[in-house]
Amino acid sequence: MGENLARKIIKDHLVSGEMKPNEEIGIKIDQTLLQDATGTMAFLEYEAMGIPRVKTEKSVCYVDHNMLQIGFENADDHLFLQSSSAKYGVYFSKPGNGICHQVHLERFAAPGKTLLGSDSHTPTGGAMGMIAIGAGGLDVATAMAGGPYWLVMPKIVGVKLTGKLPPWVYGMDVILTMLQKFTVKGGVNKIFEYYGPGVASIPLVERAAITNMGAELGATTSIFPTDEETRAYLKAQGREEVYKKLEADKDATYDEYFELNLSNIEPMIALPHSPDNVRKVSEVSGTKVAQVAIGSCTNSSFYEMMLVAKLLKGKKVNKNVSLVITPGSKQVLSMLASNGALADMLDAGARVLETACGPCIGMGQAPPSNSISLRTYNRNFEGRNGTPTAKVYLASPSVAVAAALAGEIVDPRSLGEPPKVRLPNKFMYDDSMILPPSENGEVEIIRGPNIKPITIPNPPEQTITGEVLLKVGDDITTDHILPGGAKVLPLRSNIPAISEFTFERVDPTFPKRAKEKNGGFVVGGLNYGQGSSREHAAIAPMYLGVKAIIAKTFARIHKSNLINFGIIPLTFQDQKDYDIISQGDSLTLQNVLESLSKNEPIKCFNKQKNKEIVLNYSLTQREREILIDGGLLNHTKKKNM
Ligand code: F3S
Repeated sequence: MGENLARKIIKDHLVSGEMKPNEEIGIKIDQTLLQDATGTMAFLEYEAMGIPRVKTEKSVCYVDHNMLQIGFENADDHLFLQSSSAKYGVYFSKPGNGICHQVHLERFAAPGKTLLGSDSHTPTGGAMGMIAIGAGGLDVATAMAGGPYWLVMPKIVGVKLTGKLPPWVYGMDVILTMLQKFTVKGGVNKIFEYYGPGVASIPLVERAAITNMGAELGATTSIFPTDEETRAYLKAQGREEVYKKLEADKDATYDEYFELNLSNIEPMIALPHSPDNVRKVSEVSGTKVAQVAIGSCTNSSFYEMMLVAKLLKGKKVNKNVSLVITPGSKQVLSMLASNGALADMLDAGARVLETACGPCIGMGQAPPSNSISLRTYNRNFEGRNGTPTAKVYLASPSVAVAAALAGEIVDPRSLGEPPKVRLPNKFMYDDSMILPPSENGEVEIIRGPNIKPITIPNPPEQTITGEVLLKVGDDITTDHILPGGAKVLPLRSNIPAISEFTFERVDPTFPKRAKEKNGGFVVGGLNYGQGSSREHAAIAPMYLGVKAIIAKTFARIHKSNLINFGIIPLTFQDQKDYDIISQGDSLTLQNVLESLSKNEPIKCFNKQKNKEIVLNYSLTQREREILIDGGLLNHTKKKNM
């Protein structure tokens, strides 16, 4: 029986386990990617492992998140990342060179390789026929040190694409249609593999928008086969030699099937405050917008920016709209500057920002109070934009331009023929802002006062008693647990300082109460920890003494981060028990170590309700050992003793 593409690449990289759904497997990682917001901690963790040079084929560190330098912190972090990269054998993409996923696609992505990145949108590389997975910084540091990446073997969902993209319909509309169908919980422990005759009609960078935002499905990753479109993109980047034809065998089977006729897709839009709250654009036409923001790792390629420039050429942005554009890389921005497209954007009244994540991570451009911001980004969680009362809609660049010109949401199909953008024969590639590592590692690491040592948790005790410090509902994101933005992100290498912002948007008293009570528990609903891969959403609660999170279900990356930092991710055996726990209740977890070592449920006594409930977990033996040892760093040290 033939194999699908995802299984073929996993099989080529398998170092442990069997490729059966829900079995734990270990895979060799060829490439790693760090970004600055998660990279400082990852380098501190890598340093703690004591390995002189990375063992991957290629590791790259990008600076794209913490770009505002309103104090010394971000600038210090950049120097720490640059010197650590040089010392340990990592390529360093300087601030201004672009957003990690866009630059990686342009300059490093290669068919058939595995990529592990400390950013949840690492699956962007799946457009290039890679198994590209987002993970916590500690998992990426371990892969840099040559260790396998451990994951539960995902189910492979075969998404057969038929038909072809109609005019005004792009990758963003395809993935929004997928989100409408599968929701933000529908992809957990799944890989979405696209195949079929419709693939050929989708430009490579639009495939990348689909794999990028597959992260919002909660999926492990998404992947496309490679074809002449892939070859042409690589050739135009001067990298044709890495091209390989990769596709599923003709008789391949999948664990699940879904068919999507591209010809039936219309321009789509996600309404506040979740990427799966999707409607047709035509259903919300006429809604006034105050801000339009175009860019992010989802929609900032040369193709998308040229589309935007052509739509703006000779027109003016509506007087009530602020249009913000962030091209995805220096390569993209240079090309826009040299072919005149940048002037078309500026003449129309756009505010063009430097190539970075920018407003997507709340770094500036917070919209006005109670306003609507229409963005081509991948997340519209409440408050992520920096204005708690603003509402963010998500749509393709052409919907965004149409709204910027009209001052309200418009179905772009009413604008006549869409502009045509062709793949250039040759991109203006110039790697002068990607610094290769030093030859010998003889580099002194530069540590400013913002770089504090990492905190390593204590192993758990047999009996854990504590208070329910906070009870939250479903779909709590890592932005809720530890927000991004210009105020918080610069503190990422300073755990005592950043922990003061834990749950700031949910309950600002949390850090103070957690410290007064000497830690305790957090109770959550479904899909706890969805969204960004930031491991600080585990590290900061760990620092404040949180011993376990009890939730209905967990998002994949956050669950791994909790384990890595010694916080036990527990689920209710009976989800109705969620209702009998209140904030402030005192809980006692009994026989914790014994239960974990025997893989048995943990009994939990609620003193106020005088009731015992049973808590489960879904953990592999390796994960249970990590928790017993008090997290991955303790576990790795113990194993190496
Ligand atoms: Fe950056 Fe936003 Fe992507 S923060 S990596 S542009 S999701």
